[in-house]
Amino acid sequence: MNILLIGGGGREHALAWKMAQSPLTEKLFCAPGNPGMKNCIPVLADSPEDLANFAELNRIDLTMVGPEALLCQGIVDCFTDRGLRIVGPDCRAAQLEGSKSFAKDFMLRHGLPTAKAEVFDDEKAALKYLRSQPVPVVIKADGLAAGKGVVVANSREEAEQAIKACFAGSFGEAGYRVLIEECLIGEEASILALCDGKTIIPLASSQDHKRAEDGDRGPNTGGMGAYSPAPVVDAALWKVINQRILDPFLQGVQRDLLYFRGIIYAGIMVTADGPKLLEFNVRFGDPETQAVLARLDSDLVKVLCATADAQLDQIELKWSDKPAVCVVMTSKGYPGAYEKGFPITGIKEAEETGAIVFHAGTKVHNGQLVTAGGRVLGVTALGDDLRQAVDNAYRAVGKISWEGATFRHDIAQRAL
Ligand code: AMP
Ligand code: GLY
Repeated sequence: MNILLIGGGGREHALAWKMAQSPLTEKLFCAPGNPGMKNCIPVLADSPEDLANFAELNRIDLTMVGPEALLCQGIVDCFTDRGLRIVGPDCRAAQLEGSKSFAKDFMLRHGLPTAKAEVFDDEKAALKYLRSQPVPVVIKADGLAAGKGVVVANSREEAEQAIKACFAGSFGEAGYRVLIEECLIGEEASILALCDGKTIIPLASSQDHKRAEDGDRGPNTGGMGAYSPAPVVDAALWKVINQRILDPFLQGVQRDLLYFRGIIYAGIMVTADGPKLLEFNVRFGDPETQAVLARLDSDLVKVLCATADAQLDQIELKWSDKPAVCVVMTSKGYPGAYEKGFPITGIKEAEETGAIVFHAGTKVHNGQLVTAGGRVLGVTALGDDLRQAVDNAYRAVGKISWEGATFRHDIAQRAL
């Protein structure tokens, strides 16, 4: 089969790595891909129409979309209109990630447990309501904001500032509607599942580390590391997650006639009252995917074809018992301003330890691999137990360097 994978980050490198292992894969194209994806043929198209043209011309049998923006722009609508096979929700269903008020409404109407929230299109009304709320309180820009649209405010002043920033246009259109949400306390976990509108199949659980610094301090980032499985999600909790979140999600998709043949990512908080939804994403998580796919024994291409063809009832996923850990190495300063272009050394030595080094923000400049983004690499390793997986990942991280290379030293510590 010819496959088109869209995206160029660590998540997409992990997808490409796993797809390349499938006997079904003949040619693997990636738009745009990254220097780590050695088996991929790079493609420059980036709009839904250009990508669909490319898929038609190159007889692509399966297209997989990494990032959310294209899903919200309707790439799945564009491909399916032209009879092209693609994994993902259509643009209406992608609103589950693209609009937090749409998602909240879906959760409430279908009885999924979530934090209480009020939605405001008007700054004055939002500020007035805020005065009646206890702190901490959570302020969310409604639309896509690249992971930056959520503030967990510890004081009313901080919350007020976050609301004003939204209405002042800090997040563009995404911020002119604001949610003021009850703050949930507990441990977070990421539940990813394949859903084809008829069947929903959870993937292995995982946990992300969103804050920039050790001990969960510093600003929120796209994710500084992940591990799988997340021990907080034990057998009893899985049962509750299936009953109260995943099954009602599928019923909601059916009742609302949403076209959803893709990945649903439920960000949950395990509270004293049970698991509650923080958010939906309609795609694989980054860096959760690096840790989760490292443990998948099944053929990913076969699984994704079944998702696109609504034949997930015929799929059973097989997982390695070994835990996986992904440590994200970043540019100094990320998620704030950072410099790029520093030569990277030691990847080969890291790989020789048995780790997988997923590229995220790298490029080749004058024949030399250099840093080209905030999140640069996702160093991923398995182990017989979590302790060993952590040690293996950090041993590999220790081989890699560039000027200003930064990473958290406590990925998975909470689970140990
Ligand atoms: P989201 O983009 O909605 O996942 O929010 C990003 C992060 O903000 C989450 O991973 C949580 O750490 C935090 N967060 C979001 N909503 C809440 C909430 N209601 N209570 C506490 N923390 C939250
Ligand atoms: N790791 C969080 C996300 O992918 O949104």
